[in-house]
This record gives sequence, structure tokens and C-alpha cells, in this order.
Amino acid sequence: MKISSSQMFRNFNKWRLSALTVLFLAGAFNSQAQGGDLFKAKCATCHKIFDDMTGPKLYGVRGRWEAKGAGEDVIIQWVRDQDKAATMNSYVEGRLKWSGTSMTKFGGQMTDEQIISILDWVDDQEIKVDGEETGGSGSEGDSDESGLGWIWYVVGGLFIVIILSVGGVRRQLKSADAEASGGSFDASMSYADEFKQWAWVNRKYVGLGGLVIVVGLIVTLFLGLYSIGIMEGYQPSQPIEFPHSVHTGENGIDCRYCHNSVTESKTAGIPSVNVCMNCHKQIKGEGAQVAQIQKIYDAAGWDGKKYTNVTKPIIWNKVHVLPDHVYFNHKQHVVVGEVDCIQCHGDMTKMTETAMVQPVSELNKIEGNIPLTKATLTMGWCIECHQEKAITDGPINTKDQGKNGYYNEIHKRLMSGNKALYSEYLEDDKVTVKELGGWECAKCHY
Ligand code: HEC
Ligand code: HEC
Ligand code: HEC
Ligand code: HEC
Ligand code: HEC
Ligand code: HEC
Repeated sequence: MKISSSQMFRNFNKWRLSALTVLFLAGAFNSQAQGGDLFKAKCATCHKIFDDMTGPKLYGVRGRWEAKGAGEDVIIQWVRDQDKAATMNSYVEGRLKWSGTSMTKFGGQMTDEQIISILDWVDDQEIKVDGEETGGSGSEGDSDESGLGWIWYVVGGLFIVIILSVGGVRRQLKSADAEASGGSFDASMSYADEFKQWAWVNRKYVGLGGLVIVVGLIVTLFLGLYSIGIMEGYQPSQPIEFPHSVHTGENGIDCRYCHNSVTESKTAGIPSVNVCMNCHKQIKGEGAQVAQIQKIYDAAGWDGKKYTNVTKPIIWNKVHVLPDHVYFNHKQHVVVGEVDCIQCHGDMTKMTETAMVQPVSELNKIEGNIPLTKATLTMGWCIECHQEKAITDGPINTKDQGKNGYYNEIHKRLMSGNKALYSEYLEDDKVTVKELGGWECAKCHY
């Protein structure tokens, strides 16, 4: 049987049921939001979820502690009294020295359940970031606000319920009214027409309601836009705590050994588990390392002697993400432009935790880096460097054939063409990326 849309609308009871379901779900979210409220009330003065502040970021803390043998009970004890918790586990004892400031001792102020609800809530933020994986681009900056999203569903749900109730009640009244007065009620009038009529009669209120909703949406949109691209300090947790410091620093492994497409293509690439196995088949680690390295074995399906074929791919969370409409090419920068990784990613040889988008203030501290002012990975950042950075070889060292024919080619074109323009650029003895066209929208935007 075919159901017309107006018939569907008339199926009022079903709608009411689904609207109730929405409300019920919102209620369920709400009890989880208790952790969020507690976090904001008791912990947010010193802790952020994804960034260090007065205290360390709390994101993934339960997992990190568990990996070092400190379970949930130790965290609960920690929140009550850090010194007591420190006696339970040596890793936890070490965490006491994280900063000069010490944490509030909450004692009996919170129940076990309340502390766990905070940890649950923090973990819930993690699920949402993991969910970004398939989304690819997008702004992770607003993850902190993700707890607000459901409010819109509730508002939407309520709105539908109100409209339908008003509509339904009116309809019944009308038909009763029509019957009483001996007339007939036009039941063929579709719900949509009914609504239109109702909206017209109540246009003042409908207009006002519409305005409120539109303004609300615009405000949300602006808040979203505001956080676009501000990814500095973004550091998702990773399935394996991979420290760059141990690999590139202490053991001097070249970046290209793992990110082997960085000089060949647009992307740098993340190494597959086989690359890890090249070394970790032998290097089993000790102490806390064992649990992490075991994850490599699980992923590769290595039981210590042979491959079992039961593999479990490692899903690394992307750290640096540009929107889909932006074109960025590693080869162009690393090979042609001769820009070092350190300029954009910071000194990875010292990065003891998983990778993180370095704020420009950190990047600027590194000797030899061009000082920039705009936030890392924003358009301003790209453009500012293109204005400052001189291109290498090519036009300036005409005698030196240079490392890339690309620039010699451009140089030749410039020389044979507009010489006046060319020497104008050479006045400050450098040709910047901007002068080469690095500010043209189409170079960076699809
Ligand atoms: C007055 C500031 C302050 C408040 C409030 C605070 N903390 Fe902390 N927290 C810290 C500091 C500082 C540390 C680091 C340990 C140190 O240096 O003593 C820390 C460490 C932690 C750690 C260990 C993190 C790690 O990476 O090992 C956890 C867990 C934690 N806090 C949970 C909480 C929870 C839950 C709340 C709220 C109920 C809270 N904290 C409130 C300051 C605070
Ligand atoms: C050197 C590279 C580069 C050039 C040249 C460039 N853009 Fe962008 N643009 C970017 C990047 C990177 C982003 C993403 C920034 C972000 O996510 O905040 C972006 C974002 C944008 C956005 C989205 C708004 C936003 O803040 O995310 C618009 C619109 C835009 N660019 C327009 C332009 C126009 C118009 C031009 C030419 C005048 C231009 N761009 C030139 C790199 C560039
Ligand atoms: C032993 C292998 C290995 C070596 C050597 C290595 N990396 Fe990585 N790198 C990884 C893995 C695995 C990840 C993914 C985990 C993470 O993000 O922490 C990663 C992530 C990154 C990221 C973040 C990727 C993203 O998602 O945006 C950057 C940037 C990076 N590496 C740069 C470097 C630089 C620069 C060097 C050299 C100084 C280097 N790496 C050396 C294995 C390696
Ligand atoms: C001019 C700045 C710049 C330089 C230099 C640079 N990168 Fe990147 N890197 C980026 C940007 C921007 C992204 C994000 C790309 C995207 O989302 O499309 C990125 C992403 C990455 C990623 C994540 C995977 C990918 O390909 O998207 C890795 C790994 C990485 N870079 C490693 C390196 C290594 C290793 C070097 C040095 C050999 C290097 N980068 C040099 C800017 C740079
Ligand atoms: C070229 C050799 C090599 C490769 C390739 C390699 N590692 Fe390692 N890894 C090492 C060495 C050496 C250590 C240090 C072991 C020690 O301290 O005893 C180490 C240590 C580790 C540790 C423990 C770090 C700590 O101290 O907490 C982890 C986790 C790890 N590697 C993960 C990986 C992953 C994931 C990959 C693949 C993306 C990888 N490694 C690739 C050589 C390598
Ligand atoms: C630290 C300096 C630096 C940063 C930051 C930087 N670039 Fe570049 N870029 C260069 C250099 C040097 C070149 C010269 C190589 C070339 O022209 O091919 C270049 C060239 C380019 C080109 C080719 C321009 C042309 O005329 O052929 C594009 C496209 C580009 N960059 C995009 C980006 C985007 C997108 C970002 C930001 C996500 C970015 N760059 C950030 C230094 C930088």
C-alpha cells in the first residue's frame, strides 16, 4: 500500500511515540551529562580535556593509568587524596611531580559513582573524536562543545511535538465543532494545508518562533566557524602510545624510514604495522613498554614465533587535518621548497608523547625556523610563510644549476620575459613564494 505524505503526517500517535523516544534518549544523555557537569564544576578550573593546563589533560587518563597498572580504584583514591594514591603505584607516585602545583584533595566530597561518571564522560569525548576518523576533515577544535549538540535534537523534538499537538487538537475541535453545527469538516484537507492555514492565522508567533530558531542556528554556525582551523595543540589519543622521541631521538631513525612517501608525493604517509615489525619482532621492550609493543604483535598477528593471520589493523587518529578544499603537497615543500619538517611539525625528536599539532609559539622557539604569527594550519599560516620564505636556487643562483629544474625553468621564463619585473623582485635579493604565485587562491584551493 502506498502511503501519501499527508497520511503519514496524520499518523499522529506514531509521531508522538517517536517524539517521546527522542525525549527519553535525551534524558538518558542527561544522566551521562552529569559527569560533564561535575567536570565543569570541580575539575575544569585546572584541567582541560585535550590540553594540559594547571593539571594534565584528562583525556585518556584512565587508559594511560591502566597501562601502568593503576586501575580505576587508584584514580578514585587520587581524586580523594593524591598522596595516598601515590603509595599504591609507582607510576602514580611519579605523576605527583607533574607540576609544582598540587591538586585539590576532594576527600569525601564525591561518591565513587560521581568520580566514575566524570571519567566516563571524559572517555565519551574520546569516542566522538575517534568517530572523526571516517569524517576525515572537519574541525576538531569544537570537540569540547560536543556535549551541547543533543540540545538541538531536544529543541527540535519539542518543536515537532508542540506543532503536532496543536495541530491535532485543533483538528479534533474543528471537526467536533463542524459536526455540532451540522456542517461538514473538510477531512480531505491535508495536514500540510492545515498547518499552512494555522501558520497564517498565527503568523506573529510563527514568525517570532522562526526568528528565534534562525538566530539560534546562526549563532551556532558562527561558534562552529570560529573554531575552524584552530587545531593548535590538538593531540588525539592513539591506539598505541608511539613516542617519536624514542625512535627519532634516542635511536636516530630517519623520518623518511617511516613516512616514506614524504619526498615522493603529496602525503607523508603513516607506516604500516609491517614497518614496525621490521624492528619490533626483536625489540620486545621492558616494563611499561611491553604492553604497548604487544599491541603491535596483536595488530600484525604475531604470537611470538609465527604469524597467525589473525590481524587487527591499527587505526591511527589523524593529527594534522586540512579541510578537503585545500591542496597541500609535501613533496613541493620538502623537496622543491626545501622546508624542513621541523618548521611545520616542530622538533619531533623531543616529542615524548604521541604527535600533536604544535602551536606557532612553540615552532617559533626553534632555532632556524621562520618566525610566524598565525595559528598553525590556518590559511593565515600558509600565506604568511609564503610571504616570508624565499624560494631556493633557481633565479638567484643562476650559475648553480640548482637542485630542481622547476625553478630554472621559471627563471628562464622570467629572464626572457618581463626583465623589469624580475629585477624589481631581486631588489631585496630574494624571490618569495608569494612572488612566485604562492598567494593565488587556485594554488591552494580545489
Ligand atoms: C586546583 C587544581 C586542580 C583541580 C581542581 C583538579 N585537579 Fe586534577 N590535577 C591537578 C594537578 C596540578 C595535577 C598533576 C599532579 C601534580 O602535579 O600534583 C592533577 C592530576 C590529575 C590526574 C592525574 C593525571 C595524569 O595524567 O596522571 C587526574 C586523574 C586528575 N587530576 C583528576 C582530577 C579530577 C577528576 C578533578 C575534579 C574532580 C580534578 N583532577 C581537579 C590539579 C587539579
Ligand atoms: C597558501 C595556501 C592558500 C592560498 C594561496 C589561499 N588559501 Fe584559502 N585556505 C587555505 C587553507 C589551508 C585553508 C583552511 C584553513 C582552516 O581550516 O582554517 C583555507 C580556507 C579558506 C576558506 C574557508 C574559510 C576558512 O577560514 O576556513 C576560504 C573561503 C578561502 N580559504 C578563500 C581563499 C581565497 C579567496 C583565496 C585567494 C585570495 C585563498 N583562499 C588563498 C590556504 C590557502
Ligand atoms: C618508527 C617510525 C616513525 C618514525 C621514524 C617517525 N615517525 Fe612520525 N609517526 C609515526 C607513527 C606510527 C605516527 C602515528 C602516531 C602518532 O600520530 O603519534 C606518526 C605520526 C607523525 C605525525 C602526525 C601525523 C598526523 O596524523 O598528522 C607527524 C607530523 C610525524 N609523525 C612527523 C615525523 C617526523 C618529522 C619524523 C622525523 C623527525 C618522524 N615523524 C619519524 C611513525 C614514525
Ligand atoms: C610546509 C609545512 C610542512 C612541512 C615542511 C612538512 N609538513 Fe607534514 N604536514 C603538513 C600539513 C599542512 C599536513 C596536513 C596535510 C593534510 O591534512 O592534507 C601535514 C601532515 C603530515 C603527516 C600526516 C599524514 C599526511 O601525509 O597527511 C605526516 C606523517 C607528516 N606531515 C610528516 C612530515 C614529515 C616527515 C616531514 C618532513 C620530511 C613533513 N611532514 C614536512 C605540513 C608540513
Ligand atoms: C628501526 C627500528 C624501529 C622501528 C621501525 C619501530 N621501532 Fe618502536 N622502538 C624501537 C626501539 C629501538 C625502541 C626502544 C626500545 C627500548 O627502549 O628498549 C622502540 C620502542 C617502542 C615503543 C616503546 C616506547 C616507550 O618507551 O614507551 C613503542 C610503543 C614502539 N616502539 C612502537 C612502535 C611502532 C608502533 C612502530 C611502527 C609504527 C615502531 N615502534 C617502529 C625501534 C623501532
Ligand atoms: C614554512 C613555510 C611554509 C608554510 C607554512 C607553507 N608553505 Fe607552501 N610553500 C613554501 C615554499 C618554500 C614553497 C615553494 C615551493 C614551490 O613553490 O613549489 C611553497 C609552495 C607552495 C605551493 C605551490 C605554489 C606555487 O606557486 O607553485 C602551494 C600550493 C603551497 N605551498 C601550499 C601551502 C599550503 C596549503 C600551506 C598551509 C597548509 C602551506 N603551503 C604552508 C613554504 C611554506
